[in-house]
Amino acid sequence: MDAKLLDKLSKRKKEGTFRSLTLVDSTIDFFSNDYLGFARDNVIEKFEGYLSGATGSRLLSGNSSEADNCERFLANHFNVESSLVFNSGYSANLSLLSTIPQRGDTILYDELVHASIRDGIRLSFANSVSFKHNDLTDLNTKLNALDGVIYVVVESLYSMNGDVSPLKEIVEICTDNAAFLIVDEAHSVGVFGKKGVGLIQELNLESLVFARVITFGKAYGFHGAAIVGSKDLVEFLVNFARPFIYTTALPPQDYKTINYLLNSSLIATKQESLLKTITYFRKELTDVSRYPSDLRSPIQIIETNTIKSTIELAERLKKNGIFTKPIFSPTVTQGKECIRVCLHSFNTKVEIDFLKELIN
Ligand SMILES: Cc1ncc(COP(=O)(O)O)c(C=O)c1O
Repeated sequence: MDAKLLDKLSKRKKEGTFRSLTLVDSTIDFFSNDYLGFARDNVIEKFEGYLSGATGSRLLSGNSSEADNCERFLANHFNVESSLVFNSGYSANLSLLSTIPQRGDTILYDELVHASIRDGIRLSFANSVSFKHNDLTDLNTKLNALDGVIYVVVESLYSMNGDVSPLKEIVEICTDNAAFLIVDEAHSVGVFGKKGVGLIQELNLESLVFARVITFGKAYGFHGAAIVGSKDLVEFLVNFARPFIYTTALPPQDYKTINYLLNSSLIATKQESLLKTITYFRKELTDVSRYPSDLRSPIQIIETNTIKSTIELAERLKKNGIFTKPIFSPTVTQGKECIRVCLHSFNTKVEIDFLKELIN
């Protein structure tokens, strides 16, 4: 391999940021996005009699009545005109951001948005500028300084720090400035709202949002994603979104599984159990954890504040069968290093007590 590439790899090793694929042998899950435990429940029905592969892209041989039914169901479930399923949240965001904002338009995005949104922005011909995380004043100032067509992009629940967006205010600001609002609900569907419809619908804001990204690989424990919005939006994506057009579709039974999971009668009880876990965690670990902007956030942060103590704690937890995500700068500013803990409907008080014991 070219020496430049080898240099880059060895630099990572020296810095301690080298990534490798490891088999996670975690006995206690404070790590995965399986917030409601669907992935471990084995509740997914086996749909027999379907082709095991889609055989082509959606515009060629890969379309199916299962895909069509699923998208109708999703449109109804998320109270919009139309929806389009993607093979992952990554490709949904890549599609949306690279396809919709046009040359001369501007994408104004929260500085903490996910890599898939950033990559979509990089592929877009539109201009782009970030605003400070969850900072309404900065959003307002930047919006006022811009003209032309503007797309504002936020997440409803931020995956790295567990913060919830001030969605009501953001919607109001976008409406006042005639900006199109895009909300990534990857981590909030399933967890929030009746039947897990997410935060935007819980707040009855769906008619004021241009597009929402919904994923099935997190609280639903499956895979795939959807963009939900207007009929025009979906028609545009079907015609111009290259990550949608040039890829093999999901197998037909996957659409059935998505329908099945989103319709599950277990969601309400699972949400209740998750909330109990979060409430117990908040009660027991108040001293060491950051106060989240929404008390119902399944993503909680344990403050460690130095690189050394973050590494030490992560290692101690790992030795005891608990995998967590240590977060260093530049993801967070120096001195704000922390450990990210994901809570689940299936975590027990005993597990949280054990976590507490290892932290103290
Ligand atoms: C906010 C956000 N959006 C999109 C994605 C991508 O979703 P997927 O894992 O389905 O590709 C992620 C994944 O971590 C995410 O955190």
